[in-house]
Amino acid sequence: MNTLLTPLAGRRILLGVTGGVAAYKAADLLRRLKEAGAEVRVVMTTHATAFVAPLTFQALSGEPVRDGLLDPAHEAAMGHIELARWPDLILVAPATANCMAKVAQGLADDLLSTLLLATDRPVAMAPAMNRLMWANPATRANVETLLARGIQLLGPGSGDQACGETGEGRMLEPVQIRDAVIERLTTPGPLQGCRAVVSAGPTREPIDPVRFIGNRSSGKQGFAVAAALKALGAEVTLVAGPVSLPTPAGVKRVDVETTAQMLEAARTAVAGAQLFVSVAAVADYHVADVAPRKIKKHDASLPLVLNRNPDILSTLRAEFPALFMVGFAAETDDLETHARGKLERKGLQMIAANQVGDGRAFEVDRNALQVFWPGGSATLDEGPKADVARALAALIADRYRNP
Ligand code: PMT
Repeated sequence: MNTLLTPLAGRRILLGVTGGVAAYKAADLLRRLKEAGAEVRVVMTTHATAFVAPLTFQALSGEPVRDGLLDPAHEAAMGHIELARWPDLILVAPATANCMAKVAQGLADDLLSTLLLATDRPVAMAPAMNRLMWANPATRANVETLLARGIQLLGPGSGDQACGETGEGRMLEPVQIRDAVIERLTTPGPLQGCRAVVSAGPTREPIDPVRFIGNRSSGKQGFAVAAALKALGAEVTLVAGPVSLPTPAGVKRVDVETTAQMLEAARTAVAGAQLFVSVAAVADYHVADVAPRKIKKHDASLPLVLNRNPDILSTLRAEFPALFMVGFAAETDDLETHARGKLERKGLQMIAANQVGDGRAFEVDRNALQVFWPGGSATLDEGPKADVARALAALIADRYRNP
């Protein structure tokens, strides 16, 4: 087997074709993926079949094309859950605005969207739509959501559009998509073989059965870091406080509530791991005596005695001296002084500091980080949390590989 001529030999690609004019280019893309050695199966949406006949894809792939969720014959041959786990990559090309919106919302109303919800495999999408649809705030928000979940976007390109307009939204050419797929499937990420644990979100400390002490962390930054480390090839476990976010594709998730539970879950997860990134906003205190019943409002004031929680990073530093540990620092002032203090006190290899207060960092979709390590620093400019996470993951990978 000549791996130079067939770099995708032995690789399985599930090609999802959705209903846009660019669907005709998907036939050429399929041919080029096959030429590169890939085994390709095609799933079409109903709208896609209005643009190109399934028979075209069947002839080119040598496999039956699937376009329905409830087809007994196809389900008997390979059930949709099995199909969702079959490929090394799910590639959606063209990906319409509608398809991207459905995936961002977690809808599963046809075979392709169901596969995309049921898969733990990497997903890449090649968007294709009118320039105004691409620029629409709804699509922008969906793009952020998809990127934060680790879905790779290939393009779109810019130029003449089928509708007669000119602008951003054209599907990349089949050879460009094929080359991106080859790069994705043949280049080992810098964190290949590395097991990473990420903590994210807040912890909650109960006061009584219905009340708790908590903080404003949404988990967005930590989930984006987990997705970014996964995209670099790491095997990622995400220890998540109480947040309402979907798990990034291919990431293992453990849900916890209190700081004590987060410590236990992180301790279990880091055994056998090489990297721990503590993005969680961990409660530093817990209520000394949690009321077994709901506290009634009889008195004018309600004193609560709070006891210190263990510091998760310091505890794990003592127990796992070889672990590469990255902390976060949420600071309202003297960012560098406080962050470098935590870097040293907690025995970290790196710390990412964000300015908080005045509506910054917590809960919002954007962030900016100052990253410090012994003898060095870097500034990660303000941007969507997914972009900041990708830049941080690249820095972590670099420092981890070349300490
Ligand atoms: O979740 P988002 O809404 O997206 O917001 C992101 C964020 C602002 C929560 C995140 O970017 C962030 O700054 N996380 C760290 C918040 C924090 O608790 O910072 P700290 O300076 O108090 O703690 C320093 C480090 O020690 C952190 O890595 C923290 O996880 C860790 N820690 C803290 C307390 C404790 N008991 N054990 C710990 O390990």
